[in-house]
Amino acid sequence: MNVPKTWIFDLDGVIVETAQFHYKSWKRLAHSLDIPFDESHNEALKGVSRSKSLNIILELDDREVSEKEFQRLMDKKNGWYQNYIAELTPDDILDGIPEFLDTLKERGAKLAIGSSSKNAQYILDYLQLTETFDAIIDGTKVKNTKPDPEVFLKGAQAVGEDPEDCVVFEDAESGVEAANRANMLCVGVGSEEILGDADLVIDSFVDMSPEDLLEKLS
Ligand code: BG6
Ligand code: MG
Repeated sequence: MNVPKTWIFDLDGVIVETAQFHYKSWKRLAHSLDIPFDESHNEALKGVSRSKSLNIILELDDREVSEKEFQRLMDKKNGWYQNYIAELTPDDILDGIPEFLDTLKERGAKLAIGSSSKNAQYILDYLQLTETFDAIIDGTKVKNTKPDPEVFLKGAQAVGEDPEDCVVFEDAESGVEAANRANMLCVGVGSEEILGDADLVIDSFVDMSPEDLLEKLS
């Protein structure tokens, strides 16, 4: 294993718990359309783009809508979602992450964000984390979202790193697949059952130093 020089973090579900905001907003939209939608449908929406998420929801009930209506529905959901994220503060950064990022910075590692979200920049600003990262690649900068590897490959490219020298942190199945396809090491953050294709799965960053993690990976 190459010791990673660049550490690429997914945002939603790794740095901050926004998955519940996405879920509540999609549920509200689905229910307004009389489409049954609950937590069991939500895993498939993690990591994928806004338009893919809406397609998944519409397919649950074999619905077809015009392009204009599709855009209107995405905008409606995003408006609700943006109201939630506007309340975020640095206190919402997940436990263990600030220490983990500080240690990496002290060690001279390069840090990047690799997120499918078009709201990533707002979220990083609310969390006061924008300056922490050397590169921020998000849904506004890629054509193909996860499981396509584009977001991670662009992250590596932005800091001038080879993919084999990068490690990715992901909470979504689609993100683990993207990291594997990018030929990068991958650490799943969450459940082994869902993220089993990662090189290592951890519960959280609490009491986890980069050294602990490298030891577990080796
Ligand atoms: C990902 C989330 O980070 O971003 C997905 O895991 C979400 O659930 C995707 O659909 C797109 O987000 P946004 O903010 O552009 O609607
Ligand atoms: Mg995520």
